[in-house]
Amino acid sequence: MKGVSVIAGPASPGLAAGIAGHLGADLVTAELRVFSDGESKIKLAAKIGRKCIVVQSTHPPTDSHLLQAMMIARKCADDGAQVCAVIPYLAYARQDRAFLEGEGVSAALVARLLEASGVGAVVTVDIHSQMALSYFKNARNVSSIPLLADYAAKMKLKRPIVVSPDAGGAARAGEFAKLLGADMVALKKSRDRTTGEVTVDEKVDANNIAGRDAILVDDMISSGGSIIKAAQVLLKNGAEKVYAMCAHALLIGQAAQNITAAGVSDIIATNSVPGAYAKVDMSSLLAETAMSVLE
Ligand code: R5P
Repeated sequence: MKGVSVIAGPASPGLAAGIAGHLGADLVTAELRVFSDGESKIKLAAKIGRKCIVVQSTHPPTDSHLLQAMMIARKCADDGAQVCAVIPYLAYARQDRAFLEGEGVSAALVARLLEASGVGAVVTVDIHSQMALSYFKNARNVSSIPLLADYAAKMKLKRPIVVSPDAGGAARAGEFAKLLGADMVALKKSRDRTTGEVTVDEKVDANNIAGRDAILVDDMISSGGSIIKAAQVLLKNGAEKVYAMCAHALLIGQAAQNITAAGVSDIIATNSVPGAYAKVDMSSLLAETAMSVLE
């Protein structure tokens, strides 16, 4: 595709290659140098076209990846390009409102910073909330649910039931269940806003769960706390197997091991965040969406 460059940010080289491959566009590496104080320096490895798709997810190291995305976008914009940033995992989206007195709305700040960096449009995946999305003047939120449900449809599942770990994710899990032709149930999760500790109500209709394979569907798995608590409730209520599916598998520290130790049979995520559980490729969908906003 003439005049279109896909810029591979340091966080997302594989996804960027997939997007460039799908579009037949030039793939340009954003070379990264990190100084001893942790400061990033970005250098584009080749000349860019008039339209740039900057691909950089913002999984940990979150702040570095975010700033690198801005640095790449600024350079492309300063060179006269129209910039679309593909940021599948958009960090800070959970800080979409002030929950406690004294807190700021960091999701809104991130939207303004990206705009100030020359980003004309953002393409993201399963953003945490509509509220977070509303802070962007021009953003597309792509759902990973159809691709994840396609993957689940190919698994040999016993009378599957789709489970949302909390009420907030019920619509997402409901869409997944509809595509899979399965039932859906939403658990009741609460989080202590000060300590971050998660509790999941153990009262569920066991008749609905017993002897069935449960698929937990969430937007993201970070510490694994939510999935672990939910899996424990499901297994206690007789679920045969429990699977965890999400768009963004951040899996901080020992999260994956802890989830497995809690009895979860497999973790399935998209390649929004690279890693061992990135089993569902979103590159074609993201490529098409990015092109639609650049035209
Ligand atoms: C919260 O509402 C989100 O949808 C996820 O459930 C949560 O962010 C996952 O985080 P963790 O894995 O740390 O529990």
